[in-house]
Amino acid sequence: MSEQFEKKKQTAMRLRKLVDDRESLNARIQVDSAYKEKYELLLKRYQEIEKVYDFQKSIIQKMGSGLFTIDMNGSITFANQASLKTLGYTYDEVKSKDIKDFFVEAKEAEEVIKKILKDHIAFESYETYWISKKGEPVPIGFSTSYIKMDTREDSEGVLFLFRNITQVNNLRRQIERMDRLATLGELSAGIAHEIRNPLAGIKTSAQVLEESFSPGDFRSQLVSRIVKEIDRSNELLKKFFNFAKPSKPKQEFQNIEMIIDGVYLLLASRLRKKNILFKTDFAESIPQVYIDSSQIEQVILNVFLNAVEAITNGGEIHVKISIAKHVKLKEDSAPSDAVCIGIADDGVGIPDEKLEKVFNPFFTTKSDGVGLGLSISSRLLEENGGKIELESEEGTGTLFRIYLPIIANTI
Ligand SMILES: Nc1ncnc2c1ncn2[C@@H]1O[C@H](COP(=O)(O)OP(=O)(O)O)[C@@H](O)[C@H]1O
Ligand SMILES: [Mg+2]
Repeated sequence: MSEQFEKKKQTAMRLRKLVDDRESLNARIQVDSAYKEKYELLLKRYQEIEKVYDFQKSIIQKMGSGLFTIDMNGSITFANQASLKTLGYTYDEVKSKDIKDFFVEAKEAEEVIKKILKDHIAFESYETYWISKKGEPVPIGFSTSYIKMDTREDSEGVLFLFRNITQVNNLRRQIERMDRLATLGELSAGIAHEIRNPLAGIKTSAQVLEESFSPGDFRSQLVSRIVKEIDRSNELLKKFFNFAKPSKPKQEFQNIEMIIDGVYLLLASRLRKKNILFKTDFAESIPQVYIDSSQIEQVILNVFLNAVEAITNGGEIHVKISIAKHVKLKEDSAPSDAVCIGIADDGVGIPDEKLEKVFNPFFTTKSDGVGLGLSISSRLLEENGGKIELESEEGTGTLFRIYLPIIANTI
């Protein structure tokens, strides 16, 4: 009897346990599915955050401006791709570097960084020079802003947004030069006009005076000298006048080789006298250029004359005509093909610090120079849709490149 009871009891207990297990399993399944829902929600959120984060990261990495963040000690905590490219460093090389070490001027760095970190001053378009990995100074414009990510002390820092401003500076210089040219133009036009009239009067009077002397009178020599000097002044005034008001180009399709040959003929005897060899290298099938031939002739003559004057004791002038690919003829125009006239001399060359200045009006290093040749040339080229560039090394020689646009000749 008891044995039977015991068996029954055990079966009941087993059943009971099964039921219990079942219940706890069910319960767990319920709990699990609640968790699962939460888990999935979290995962989705996380993926969304990751997407936003990746998006922001790629914006920061791909943007054109350089971006540094520094901590409150001035150490770099982050640098984006553009910042590394601008200064030529790798990420590991800039990480933890002191921001002050980038400045060319230690004293300036000390002052600026103190203002940023201690006085919390934000800089806007501050211009300075930083040093690249190669040790070269890079003109930089930067803006700063203070950042604090959360309540932690170590989440404070400063963000630097910066750019290499070489191009901006070049453009600025160009504008300044144009400004100066414009003022100068107006001025010289006025002066030239005012002086030419009285000069004409003086010249006529002098000529009349000259005729009143009997032949052989020594005074007639003096008067003819006056007339000659007046002519010289007139020439100079004419130059000013041209400079002030270059006539609108009368463009036609022209053969550039012919223009160069013409200029060469003008200078041939001078070249011989100075023992200068003239070499040409004209590419085949150079298209005709659409230019004002007398203006471009003047440009080529100016550049030629400078080359001749740069050679002191025998030398060589080399003229090469070729087609240059992808040339930007204007700052804001798309690159196109152009006819390139290279005029190279092995003369004295131009020292680096003067390279910038040679196109400025009145810049001359010659005792009898006027300093208008190149500024007039660059202006005339501009009028004709072209441009001029130069390369030079002191003691070795100079190469001027004159570019003229290629325009389809449909006439
Ligand atoms: N081929 C050259 N070689 C050396 N220096 C040059 C050359 N071309 C121009 N320069 C420099 O540029 C200056 C300006 O030239 P330019 O405008 O023609 O005026 P100018 O010939 O009257 O001095 C020259 O005085 C000279 O210093
Ligand atoms: Mg000259």
